[in-house]
Amino acid sequence: MKLDGKTAVVTGASRGIGAAVARMLHERGANLGLASRSGNDLGLERVVARPCDVRDLEALVALCDATAERFGGIDIVVANAGVGAYGPFLDLSREHLDEMLDVNLKGTVYTIRAALPHMLGREGDVITLASEAGRRGLPYEAVYCASKFGQVGLTRALDGELREHGIRCTNVCPGGVATDFALDDGRGRTADVLPGMMTAEDVAEVVLFCLERPRRFRMLETALRPMTEASWG
Ligand SMILES: NC(=O)c1ccc[n+]([C@@H]2O[C@H](COP(=O)([O-])OP(=O)(O)OC[C@H]3O[C@@H](n4cnc5c(N)ncnc54)[C@H](OP(=O)(O)O)[C@@H]3O)[C@@H](O)[C@H]2O)c1
Repeated sequence: MKLDGKTAVVTGASRGIGAAVARMLHERGANLGLASRSGNDLGLERVVARPCDVRDLEALVALCDATAERFGGIDIVVANAGVGAYGPFLDLSREHLDEMLDVNLKGTVYTIRAALPHMLGREGDVITLASEAGRRGLPYEAVYCASKFGQVGLTRALDGELREHGIRCTNVCPGGVATDFALDDGRGRTADVLPGMMTAEDVAEVVLFCLERPRRFRMLETALRPMTEASWG
């Protein structure tokens, strides 16, 4: 399905999963509003990109307003920006606690809050890049899990609220994906594990799959795991 004439806002689009989603949306013809602290436009056309921290609601509102003004509205929002820090609960610094909750959870609330006014009256989609960590409690990832369960709850609740407006809300919940994120601090990952993980493009294709379903139904949640990871335990 082509997305010509559709407009998507993607957060955390400067690299990793967000960049892969942005590129695939663009290939399908979508216009883009891209948010990341670096403000990277990925070298694409039909893009509004500016430095934007998802902890800053006003910055997100400005990005969404500018995107809607240039392209006539917003049809799709992909709340993807996220950070992770892992380790024993008591060992996590205050800085890490706040960053995970603020970027992952409040950042997702703010992103949808900023985009939604421009989506009402159009048949649109809210996609939240949650995680397997939003579906089960993982030891040494307690605060990350809390932020991801929060995202899942937010998106499920919005599904109930926005369906009557023709807006679909989907949680995408990957396991390990070979991005910078997978090598982040505390999880003990090394570059050795990357070949066994999914790619950012694998996840982006699932996002596109959800977006391209006929409007008569919606995907509420999709969980994807690399063959190297067990599903439970
Ligand atoms: N990789 C995995 O194994 C995995 C698994 C499950 C779920 N996820 C989720 O997938 C999402 C994307 O992860 P990824 O693997 O693509 O990570 P990544 O490669 O580290 O990319 C993270 C993106 O988020 C942006 N970002 C970080 N903090 C931000 C902030 N305060 N404001 C705006 N943008 C910010 C970064 O851009 P700037 O640095 O330029 O701001 C970057 O574009 C995250 O929500 C993550 O929790 C990842």
